[in-house]
This record gives sequence, C-alpha cells and structure tokens, in this order.
Amino acid sequence: MKPRVLVSRAVFPEVIARLAGHFEVDDNQADVILGVDGLKARLAGKAGALTAATDPLTADVIAAAPSLKALCNFAVGYNNIDLAACTRAGVMATNTPGVLDDTTADLAWALLMASARRLPAAERWLRNGEWKGWEFVQWLGTDVHHATLGILGMGRIGQTVARRAWGFDMKVLYHKRTPLPAEQEAACRASWVDKETLLRESDFLVLLLPYSPATHHIIGAAELALMKPTAHLINVARGGIVDDEALIAALRGGRLAGAGMDVFEGEPKLNPGFLGLDNVALTPHIGSSSRSTRMAMAMTAADNLIAALGGQRPPNLLNPEVFK
Ligand code: DGY
Repeated sequence: MKPRVLVSRAVFPEVIARLAGHFEVDDNQADVILGVDGLKARLAGKAGALTAATDPLTADVIAAAPSLKALCNFAVGYNNIDLAACTRAGVMATNTPGVLDDTTADLAWALLMASARRLPAAERWLRNGEWKGWEFVQWLGTDVHHATLGILGMGRIGQTVARRAWGFDMKVLYHKRTPLPAEQEAACRASWVDKETLLRESDFLVLLLPYSPATHHIIGAAELALMKPTAHLINVARGGIVDDEALIAALRGGRLAGAGMDVFEGEPKLNPGFLGLDNVALTPHIGSSSRSTRMAMAMTAADNLIAALGGQRPPNLLNPEVFK
C-alpha cells in the first residue's frame, strides 16, 4: 500500500500527479484554509505532507499526527513549522531554498522602483481622471541610480538583490551578523557595515531576514528614526520583522519617504493605516509568485517528500539529526 500524504493547499495539477505516482494523495485543490484543527484532522494517518507558509505546524498539530515522518514546506521560510517539535517527534522538516531567489529579488526591485517613482499613487491619480495635462513639477520621485542600496540579511536572496544594483551604478552596503567571506562579498560588490551605519546611510533599505523571535520588530520606531527622511524601506521577507504601526507613523509623519511592502504583521489582515497612505506600494505576499518559480518550489517540496518517505535523505532537510 502506498503511504498517505496531504497536500495542504491548492497547487498545480502536475504536482499532484507527480506525488500520485508515489503516494495516496489527499489534496486540497479547493484551497480551504485548514488552520490548526483542520490540519490535525487531515494529517491523521498521514506519513507526510506538502505544506505552505500559511499552515501553522505547531507542536500541537505535530503531536496529533503520530504517523507523520516528513513535513515539506513549499517555501524557503519555515517560521510556520515548530522545528524543535518536529525533531522531538522524529519528523523530518524541509524547505525550498534557492529556487525562488531570482523571482523574489525581482519583486524587491519592483517595489523599490515603485516606491522611488511613486507608481501606485500616480497610477491611481491617472485612473481617477485627475490628470489634466503634463506639468514640469509633477509626481517628482527619487532617483534610484547612483543611490546607496542597503540590504539587511545577506543570504542568497540578498546577494541576488545586490547583483541587480550593478546596472543602476549603486553603492551597496549590507549587514548580517557574520560578514560574507571576502570572495563572496566581492562577487556582490557589496560592503559590510554595522546595523546602525546601514540604517543611517541607505537610500533604499531592503529587508531579507527570516522571521524569528530574534528578528521580531527588528525595524521599529528607533531604527526608523535613524534612517534618512528621504529613504525608502522594502520588506519582501516576513511580516513582523517590521513594526508596521511604527512604519505607518513614520510614513505619515514624513520621517520616511516611502515603503514597498509585500508582507505584513498578521497577514492577510492589513493594518488599515497603510491604506490611507500614498507613499507606500503594497503587494499581497507575491515575492515568489511566478508560474515557473511556484512550480519549482512545489516540485522541490515533492522531491523532498519522495526522498524522505523513500528512506533517502531529503535534499533540503532542516533537522538532519532526525535522519537515520
Ligand atoms: C517563502 O518561500 O518563504 C515565501 O514567502 C512563500 O511563502
């Protein structure tokens, strides 16, 4: 008998077909949000699951599924998984690093450009029929070229964002706890600085940190106060890294020129303060959302699940101590 697996959210039919070659698949193509109770019910009797960043894979959920051997997130972030609980329960957990770097870096740049050149507000104004004619001083934005790009969190996606800055002749600064090895830093044409210098000197600050208790509100009122009033903040990482209330206050008070936000505290709920602001570009957590990248993420998660339940070490194992 084939092992039983859950696919917790709607995915491309090709992914279900691939899994069906190995497993008895309980899919959720209706895309009902399962939540804690739904996950407990649907994981019962399953050997593994393909899961999303929206699934709360808490200690409780994991304990309720004693047959579980692998949870394979189709996301690079895995703050939705209680990794310690997985390890205690002998459940392998995996993510999908690498396959979404370019697509997510592209969206960081899209938001950066949109914020710099005030695209969302200008477009709304045009659509509302308010454009009465060209004016010399109209919708003045901020130049991106030759500005200083700051990157907080310089993993694979951060480095990909940095390389895209070359075409704009930008100076690139970054901060992470441990500086990159010299040759990797040179390959990005980026310089390590301390966090305060990064905040003070960046014209555009892109956040690319994983969410954890240590990074909760890593950008709050105090950090925003260090930034230039002409600067723009871009978050394509995770909600909760930025104190959204403090950001809204800074944008409203003119203490920050603009922001580009793909992720939010408590999403999909949005702090209503964002909606009244013209100096923020907003997108609904679509950093990795191109067809080919979402396909690659789901297929990478499927590879991990097939390996894990086939007795192989999954390529993107997050808790190797569980693999026997
Ligand atoms: C990720 O891969 O972590 C993206 O945010 C999708 O959830």
